[in-house]
Amino acid sequence: MTRHIAIFASGNGSNAENLIRHFNYSDKGTKVALVVCNRADAGVVGRANSLEVPVRVLGREEINKPDIMLPLLEEYETDLVVLAGFLLMIPEFLVNRYAGRIVNIHPSLLPKFGGKGMYGRHVHKAVVEAGERVTGITVHMVSNEYDKGEILFQATTEVLDTDTPDSVEKKIHELERKYFPMVIEKVAENDLLNLSFPTT
Ligand code: GRF
Repeated sequence: MTRHIAIFASGNGSNAENLIRHFNYSDKGTKVALVVCNRADAGVVGRANSLEVPVRVLGREEINKPDIMLPLLEEYETDLVVLAGFLLMIPEFLVNRYAGRIVNIHPSLLPKFGGKGMYGRHVHKAVVEAGERVTGITVHMVSNEYDKGEILFQATTEVLDTDTPDSVEKKIHELERKYFPMVIEKVAENDLLNLSFPTT
C-alpha cells in the first residue's frame, strides 16, 4: 500500500521539489500526494504544478478550520504531513489528528535559533551575528509549540569568519538537499532507529 505525504509550504519550495523528485519518480512506496500552500504567489505552487502534484492554496482562516482541512487531507489519504518552509502555526486539531506524523525542517541546530520569528534569513543572520562556529538543520516532530517537538535528525556545517547570511543559507540548502528526503523516507517507513546523525 502506498503511503501518502502532504507537504505544507509557504515559499520558494526547493525542499518540496526535492521531496517530490525523490518520492514521485521512483518506487519507494511513498508518494507526495498534495501540496498545501498559504500564498498563491509562492514559488512552490509553480514547482508542484510542473511536477504534477495537486496544490491547494488556502488562507490562514481555511487552514484553521477542521471541516476544511481534515476532509482535504483524508481525500488525499494523507499518512504524513511534512512542513517545508511553512510559516503559519499548525492548528492544534491537526497536530492532534496527525500526532507523531507531522514533521518540520528548521534551518538551525535547535534549540538554538528557534521559536517565533526565527525563519529563513532571520535565522542565518542571527547565527552570523552571534559568531556561531557551527550551524545546521534540524528535522523534528511538530508539537503545539513552535520548534519544540522531538528532534529526529540534525546535520551540521561550519560557519567561517568570511560567511554571510547568504552564504550560510546556501550551505543550509545544501544540507537540506542532501539529507531531507532520506530523513522523510525513514520517517514514512517508521524506521527512525536507523536515522544516523552525520557530524560534518
Ligand atoms: C528552508 O531553509 C527550511 O529549512 C525552512 O525554510 C526554508 C524553506 O526553503 N523551514 P524552500 O522554500 O524549501 O526553498
